[in-house]
Amino acid sequence: MDENVQVVVRVRPIERATKFKVEKNTISTLDNPVKSYTFDHVFDESSTQNEIHSELCSRYVLHTLEGYNTCIFAYGQTGSGKTYTMRGSDTTPGIIPLVCHDLFEALSLDQSTISTVDITYFEIYNEKLIDLLGETSPRVRENNEKKTFIQGITKFRVNRVEEILHYLSAGDSKRSVASTRMNLQSSRSHAIFTLSIKQTEPDGSVRESDLKLVDLAGSERAKATIGIDDGKRMKEGANINKSLSTLGRCISHLAKNSKNITPYRDSLLTWVLKENLGGNSKTCMIACISPSDLDETMSTLRYATTAKEIKLNAKMNEIKPNDNEEMRAVMEAAATNRKELENLKAEMSNLQSEYNIKSEQWKTHEKLLERFNHINKLNDYLEDQLRNEISKVKLLQREYQISKSEIKTAYGALTGVISVLREPNPSSNKVFGLESLISDISEFVLQLDSDISSFA
Ligand SMILES: Nc1ncnc2c1ncn2[C@@H]1O[C@H](COP(=O)(O)OP(=O)(O)OP(=O)(O)O)[C@@H](O)[C@H]1O
Ligand SMILES: [Mg+2]
Repeated sequence: MDENVQVVVRVRPIERATKFKVEKNTISTLDNPVKSYTFDHVFDESSTQNEIHSELCSRYVLHTLEGYNTCIFAYGQTGSGKTYTMRGSDTTPGIIPLVCHDLFEALSLDQSTISTVDITYFEIYNEKLIDLLGETSPRVRENNEKKTFIQGITKFRVNRVEEILHYLSAGDSKRSVASTRMNLQSSRSHAIFTLSIKQTEPDGSVRESDLKLVDLAGSERAKATIGIDDGKRMKEGANINKSLSTLGRCISHLAKNSKNITPYRDSLLTWVLKENLGGNSKTCMIACISPSDLDETMSTLRYATTAKEIKLNAKMNEIKPNDNEEMRAVMEAAATNRKELENLKAEMSNLQSEYNIKSEQWKTHEKLLERFNHINKLNDYLEDQLRNEISKVKLLQREYQISKSEIKTAYGALTGVISVLREPNPSSNKVFGLESLISDISEFVLQLDSDISSFA
């Protein structure tokens, strides 16, 4: 479905601001000649995080659950409120935590759909991609359909919003932030938080979508950084400006619908956001302005006006169940297995808080979680194979039955583990017993792995 990039403006409250007039969705200068700009929405300086939430978050969560890729990114000069809008604080949470709450609430209302949520969090700092949730060295790659993806990034499967908030804070503590003249807590990198959602319906149809939430670094002039650790801040500033000017070139290119090649590859930021800027995505740009600086504000408003012209081509990423009955049965079996494992994982996680399980026992739990993730990966692998290579269905089905019974055995063993962990003070013998159970499970999984690789 063709649809334009949605563009909204948010005005930061600030003393000694150059005055602008906001009327409905139009913002105008006060001096002659009056210049007016109209957007999908303008949030004036009195706007609250709640207003931004009700206007934007539920809509983008809904699109994501419908199976569309979506993206919300905050753009604007340094100190204009991008991080405040996207991330907020503990008392005034921003779009990222609010979207996560909405998403989990919506998923919990639909009991018949089996859903998984995976998250990644990375930054682009000085034209390098840095994993904020791990120590990997991820790289941007292009697949056969010319879509970019991040290879080698740390991904976590999450079951509760609290888990996401934990990972977000861990990622934030790694993010490059420094004091500049314009902002005491200035983001020196572009941060991209992605939620990948997969929903399997009882009839076997599968919807997959990515929701990207982006807090860009701010455009800035050299004077914003000079005097504070000059060399490092200047280099960061130059890289930030380079990627933002490439973003500007891509936006104006896409807005003109030019036949030439869009220069996505000229910066890592635009390369990573390629699909969200000009392809299969529903995208919203939040242009943040801090009207203390008229020139910067006018430049942001012009930039945002150009972005409004971009046409996107969002498609619902849904795979309908194959007519083949056997295929459908296997897909359903995969979905049931996944649900069993997810329930078990959630139960283990509840146990930790319920019984305050610590130290050795908890290490045991963590090893189990690793195994769950491993089994989940095998499930993913099987489902992909099923979708892509229909001719192998029969063979896969046989292999899958084997894997299913292995997983069931593992499930039985793990249920035993849970009953031991439920005891408030399991003895060290029991903990030792748990470890031998884990090594059994690990053998099952290795066996399963080698079974699968033998026919792959
Ligand atoms: N709408 C708002 N209401 C209250 N305070 C705000 C608002 N917007 C921004 N601020 C405050 O202004 C300061 C700068 O905001 P923020 O760090 O979000 O800017 P930024 O656009 O992310 O800048 P940079 O590009 O340097 O990272 C922060 O102290 C933030 O709390
Ligand atoms: Mg910031």
